[in-house]
Amino acid sequence: MSTARTALALSDSGHGLPIAFLHGYLLDRTFWSPLAEVLGPGMRSIVPDLPGFGESPVLPGVTTLDAMADRVVQCLDALKVERAAIVGLSMGGYVALALWRRHPTRVRALVLADTRAVGDTLEGRTRRDQMISMAERDGAEGAMRAMMPNILGATTRASRPKVVAAARAMMLRQPVNGIVAALRMMRDRPDQTPVLATLTVPTLCLVGEEDAITTPTEMTAMTAAISGGRLVHIPASGHLAPFETPEAVADELRPFLGGLG
Ligand code: MLT
Repeated sequence: MSTARTALALSDSGHGLPIAFLHGYLLDRTFWSPLAEVLGPGMRSIVPDLPGFGESPVLPGVTTLDAMADRVVQCLDALKVERAAIVGLSMGGYVALALWRRHPTRVRALVLADTRAVGDTLEGRTRRDQMISMAERDGAEGAMRAMMPNILGATTRASRPKVVAAARAMMLRQPVNGIVAALRMMRDRPDQTPVLATLTVPTLCLVGEEDAITTPTEMTAMTAAISGGRLVHIPASGHLAPFETPEAVADELRPFLGGLG
């Protein structure tokens, strides 16, 4: 574990290629624990709580994807990590693309998991406003209720009760001000589609075959815009593929990350 002073609460463990793991909305860094356990200590895992989640407070001025990406880079600075592979899930993938856009020299490779490059549609923005009202009224419970029907795959909902319970508990412990700040940030984020064509680092895209939020169809189109990009489908998994089926995700990550040297 790190003792360095960083902008965000984080775990820093293992040795070798530095990899920063960025979690999604309504989650925290413990999201990556099942995957980290399967991957083992053969790589250096840097796992922050993004602002407003887990043990990282909402940070004044950090209201945009760009500011969030800058905070992640501040963590790399504090840990004296020059370049890292960035693995981002969903909202973490939005941050990963912003990090590449702003700090390309800090990125060794990208893994974009269950995510998208486009911004919110008008309808999506209205839905964000409804979710903000729901979170302000009902707290994390309201936010969790809004996500639960779609966030896990059908197989997980039907046959992995421990994963369902752990995901639910993680969502319920997130602070309301962090939830609202993230919803506003996602609502107002830019369309990052043009960024895809600028990617010159090895990029692997991952999607749970049962992902109902960033669907395999959507991720196929996103991957096609990345020169040399490759999309792998994770069977029997939904939007939280690395948490639902960490073994299958690790089987894809190992050769990709191992090939980076
Ligand atoms: C996430 O899992 O981070 C969210 O689904 C992202 C979003 O709501 O756009």
